Amino acid sequence: MKLFDVYPLFDINIVKGKGCRVWDDKGNEYLDLYGGHAVISIGHAHPHYVEAVSRQVATLGFYSNSVINTLQQQLAERLGTVCGYDDYTLFLINSGAEANENALKLASFYNGRTRILSFAKAFHGRTSLAVEATDNPKIIAPINNNHHVTYLPLNDMEALRHELAKGDVCAVIIEGIQGVGGIQMPTTEFLQELRTLCTAQGTVLILDEIQSGYGRSGRFFAHQYADIRPDIITVAKGIANGFPMGGVLISPMFTPVYGQLGTTFGGNHLACAAALAVLDVIEEENLVENAAQVGKHLMEELRKLPHIKEVRGRGLMIGLEFAEPIKELRNRLLHEQHVFTGASGSNVLRLLPPLCLSIDEAVSFVERLKKVLR
Ligand SMILES: Cc1ncc(COP(=O)(O)O)c(C=O)c1O
Repeated sequence: MKLFDVYPLFDINIVKGKGCRVWDDKGNEYLDLYGGHAVISIGHAHPHYVEAVSRQVATLGFYSNSVINTLQQQLAERLGTVCGYDDYTLFLINSGAEANENALKLASFYNGRTRILSFAKAFHGRTSLAVEATDNPKIIAPINNNHHVTYLPLNDMEALRHELAKGDVCAVIIEGIQGVGGIQMPTTEFLQELRTLCTAQGTVLILDEIQSGYGRSGRFFAHQYADIRPDIITVAKGIANGFPMGGVLISPMFTPVYGQLGTTFGGNHLACAAALAVLDVIEEENLVENAAQVGKHLMEELRKLPHIKEVRGRGLMIGLEFAEPIKELRNRLLHEQHVFTGASGSNVLRLLPPLCLSIDEAVSFVERLKKVLR
C-alpha cells in the first residue's frame, strides 16, 4: 500500500529533535522556526516531557472516559489557573478541528440556532462544521456546504453590527490571530465590540486559540490583549507538544448534559500526562514571557530589513509579508541555510518556533535570512 498523496513534501526526513533544532537522517542540523506547524511549544524532546510521557505509558497509556481520570481533573485545574479561566470547564478531544466542531455544536445546543459568522481568510479545521467555517472553497466538499456560515471582512465593524442585529446568529468564531490567513490580527476595538454585540444578541462567542494560544502570542491567549472573555475558547497544537490533543474551555453559562458530547480517545491518560508536562515547563521556564521578549526582539530586527513589506504578529507568531511570492526564498532558507519556516498564501513567510527560542537563535535566523535576501 502507498500513502494517499495529499501532502506536497520537502525531500527531507527529520529523525531527531532537541529544543529549537531538528536533524535529518543524513545528520544535517536545522533551526526550527516552524515548530512542526506551531505544535512544538516547549521544544523538541524536552527531558521533563520525555520522562513524564515515558513514565505514564509504562504505567497506564489509556483507559476509557467511563472511569475517573484524575489526570484530566489535574489538567483542568492547572490550565484554569495558568490561563486565568479557573471558573470555566474543560472538554478534551484529539485535534483542533474537533475542538471547533464541539464548540460550534455546544453553541447550537445552547441557543438552538444554526447560523454562524466567520471571517475572510479564517481557518478552523477540516471536519464538517469547522471546514464550513473555513474560508477556503477548495477544501469544502459539497457535503460540507450547508449554508450555515456567513463570512465577514475581518475588523469590519459595520458588517458585524449588520449581521448580528438580525438576532439569529448562533455563534461567531474568530481566531485570536489568524494563522493560515497570513498573521492577520483582529483589533482590540473590534474584539471588544464583538464581545458586547454577542452578549446583547444571545450569540455565542468562540475564540479559536488553536494556533495563537498556549503562550505563543506572548500572553496565554492572544485575545487577552483585548481584555475580553469569550464564551468558548478552543485549543490544540502546543497543548501537548506534539501528542495529539485538543481542548474546549467552556464558560459557566453552559450546563453539561450527560452524553451530549463524547469521544473515545479524548483526554486519555497519556495525552494528559503530556499536557501536564507542557504546563510544568511553560511555568518553570517562563515560556510565555520568553515568547513575548524574544518575539519583540525578533520583530524589531526583522523590521530593519529593507526587503520585507510588512512584519506582523505578536510574540512568536510572526508573519513577514513580501511583495513577491516567497516559494523560492523559503526553499533557499531550508536547503541553503537549514531553517524551517512556514508559509501563508503565496507572499507571507510564517514563523512559529518553539516558545523556548533564545535570543541567540533568533539572531541566527535573522543572519541566515539576510543571506538569502541578498
Ligand atoms: C486556527 C486553527 N484552527 C484549527 C486548526 C485545525 O487544527 P487540527 O489540524 O489539529 O485539526 C488549525 C490548524 O492549523 C488552526 O491553525
